[in-house]
Amino acid sequence: MGKKVTVGAAVIGGAAVCAAAAFIVRCRMQQNSNPVSKSGDIVKELEEHCATPVSKLKQIADAMTVEMHAGLASEGGSKLKMLITYVDNLPTRDEQGVYYALDLGGTNFRVLRVQLAGKSGIEYKEFAEVSIPPQLMVGTPEALFDYIAAELNKFISSESEKFRHPSGRQRELGFTFSFPVLQLSIDSGTLIRWTKGFSIQDMVGRDVVAELTKAMDRQGVDMRVSALVNDTVGTLAGGKYDNKDVAVAVILGTGSNAAYVERAQAIPKWHGPHPKSGEMVINMEWGNFKSSHLPLTEYDNSLDAESLNPGEQIFEKMISGMYLGELLRRVLYRMANEVALFGDTVPPKLKTHFILRTPEMSAMHHDTSPDLNVVGEKLKDILEISNTSLSTRKTVVEICNILATRGARLAAAGILGILKKTGRDSFRDGELPNTVIAMDGGLYEHYSEYRNCLENTLNELVGEKLAKHVKLILSNDGSGIGAALLAACHSQYI
Ligand code: BGC
Repeated sequence: MGKKVTVGAAVIGGAAVCAAAAFIVRCRMQQNSNPVSKSGDIVKELEEHCATPVSKLKQIADAMTVEMHAGLASEGGSKLKMLITYVDNLPTRDEQGVYYALDLGGTNFRVLRVQLAGKSGIEYKEFAEVSIPPQLMVGTPEALFDYIAAELNKFISSESEKFRHPSGRQRELGFTFSFPVLQLSIDSGTLIRWTKGFSIQDMVGRDVVAELTKAMDRQGVDMRVSALVNDTVGTLAGGKYDNKDVAVAVILGTGSNAAYVERAQAIPKWHGPHPKSGEMVINMEWGNFKSSHLPLTEYDNSLDAESLNPGEQIFEKMISGMYLGELLRRVLYRMANEVALFGDTVPPKLKTHFILRTPEMSAMHHDTSPDLNVVGEKLKDILEISNTSLSTRKTVVEICNILATRGARLAAAGILGILKKTGRDSFRDGELPNTVIAMDGGLYEHYSEYRNCLENTLNELVGEKLAKHVKLILSNDGSGIGAALLAACHSQYI
């Protein structure tokens, strides 16, 4: 008897909750100044707002070119920082010896040991990957760098006898630090700001090499940082080592950025000695690009407003791996609220920021099963939404497609901007130059719909003739190896 009463109460309670939820849904719809009644309408609206026709992409590429000029003209002349890297020579394959690299730029960092054998290339490489505890990403500089230096210590303590350096000779390290840094020399630079979820305020304005060196001293690591490089610059160096036509590097991972080889004469803000090579690598920090031509939606605006760095990294927030899954969550959340995409109540998990990661979005986007089983499983496992209909699952895939397509096409427009700025989009001495673009980052490597769309869009933008001269190559591990190569180029023993 007691049991029946409980069940009955639960049923009545459940009905009351549903009625209340339905009421809330209706109220929300009425509050909306521009109510969109069907889920199809919201998707259609998203598609329209995310549209990237070729004409728009060309405007974006032109805007990128204009900003590149402005950023090179003066410090602070543009949202594009166009940072001088002090890398005026890329590896030549004359490099010899054992060098180290530390690659820090996301939730993991890597420590590498590379043995270079001149023209024979890389004889041996070895690395260790360590994840960074989330509290260290928002703690103090000392805590972060001590943690890294301790791992570095473990790495070298366990190395075999053949890598022991002769006494009196210090180990040398290329430090890939993938955040915007104002470099003062090849081996020093101050952090301009954090991106990608890091926020250690005491570190901004400080020299990152000095902080790492102090931590290495505290941990008893005898190593000298001989090159400080962005991951794009490392990728460019690593790419060039393998292929002489590499002139641009693009990272599409958690964050996004590009670096390229610029003529020193085209850098008015450079007042240092004219490099012998006549060239200088520029770290664009293109993640911070902004233009009125960018197809921004309400989802981008709210993501930005609620981020750790509002108003900054707008391009990155539209195209990179840290944010695509979160944009998807925001669209789904609106649809759950306004058109009850997942039933009468809004699934509570859907309210959690960044709960949908881009790898999960990619898995749903690539689901080829007739019933979209992967989509169903992901919705269940991550958002605790069970029993979705096939049409709901199709809607989810459609949204993944809209967001990934926009991101990939915008990235292609960015690349076109670089080709235009460097004159690599037109004939030189009657010939089209060959340009190889070294690509790295998990988004590019693993999200094949995104990668294919980027490549097709770039071909579409440059046209058939030029497309034959522009090649994208995956430069896996490029940034770490590139940093070790640059450490070799700038060794104190040369
Ligand atoms: C950083 C860049 C970096 C890129 C890719 C961005 O958030 O600002 O310095 O190159 O992520 O890792």
